[in-house]
Amino acid sequence: MEQRWALITGASAGLGVEFARLAAAEGWSLVLAARRRSEMEALAATLPVTCVVIDIDLSQPRSGDVLWEMANEGRQIDLLINNAGLGAHGPFGTGETDEREDTSIAVNVVAYTDLLQRAVADFRQRGIKGQVLNVASLAGYMPGPGMAVYHATKAYALSLSDAVHSEAKRDGITVTALCPGATRTEFFDAAEVKRTWLMTLSTMGDAASVARAGWDGLRAGRRRVVPGIMNKFSMIFARLLPSAVMTPLVGRLLAKNL
Ligand SMILES: NC(=O)c1ccc[n+]([C@@H]2O[C@H](COP(=O)([O-])OP(=O)(O)OC[C@H]3O[C@@H](n4cnc5c(N)ncnc54)[C@H](OP(=O)(O)O)[C@@H]3O)[C@@H](O)[C@H]2O)c1
Repeated sequence: MEQRWALITGASAGLGVEFARLAAAEGWSLVLAARRRSEMEALAATLPVTCVVIDIDLSQPRSGDVLWEMANEGRQIDLLINNAGLGAHGPFGTGETDEREDTSIAVNVVAYTDLLQRAVADFRQRGIKGQVLNVASLAGYMPGPGMAVYHATKAYALSLSDAVHSEAKRDGITVTALCPGATRTEFFDAAEVKRTWLMTLSTMGDAASVARAGWDGLRAGRRRVVPGIMNKFSMIFARLLPSAVMTPLVGRLLAKNL
């Protein structure tokens, strides 16, 4: 069988690891990208497929373009999982989280856009039915006081993904947005979002099941995937409730409770 290559960003932890396992189970050769090389090498050693590991900081200028070029050196990527991302928890404009907010814009918006752009252009030029999974978030459906920049980056991710889905499908290219709710990964530790009502009240999704829902949606070429019944309800509420009601409610959930 012909070798098919998938590029997975954020492959050193959480959802990225689960995507790598799912893709490997279907026989995809993998390019794994994130900053922590040793974690990706350890993952690659457990997978029954060829893996190439690229350590790259996606917050650096032009890093999305650089990664696309490195990933396509000596091979052609047919599937992109645009998954790397991070958040910052804290009040906007106090200086507390400014640096992490800037980094999250660089990774969740700039590198995310550049990779999507390069993938779609390349798939078009090669005339292939390439596929992209963009990892957005349920946060993309609602403003998030307490994580204002993170929610805004995910609203951007979702909007861009939907628009490109509509444009690219006439070329046979599919672009799917995955919108998980709170999921057990390193994300909340990294964002220092531990003691909030969200963490106390929500049933955290399991990374393997969330990734499976995303992978199935990607392979079926769906526009959006919202995994889990509670997340689907939240998504419907977010669409029905006026922002004047929804936004302070989300702010309460993201407030520290200790
Ligand atoms: N967990 C949730 O509740 C949740 C909910 C909705 C959406 N999401 C989204 O799901 C995606 C994956 O997150 P996760 O939950 O799996 O979190 P995670 O366990 O913290 O993993 C995040 C991944 O992104 C990579 N990453 C972060 N900063 C990077 C940088 N500057 N350059 C390159 N890679 C970077 C990390 O790798 P290195 O640290 O090795 O660089 C890691 O592999 C993110 O886009 C996140 O926004 C998560």
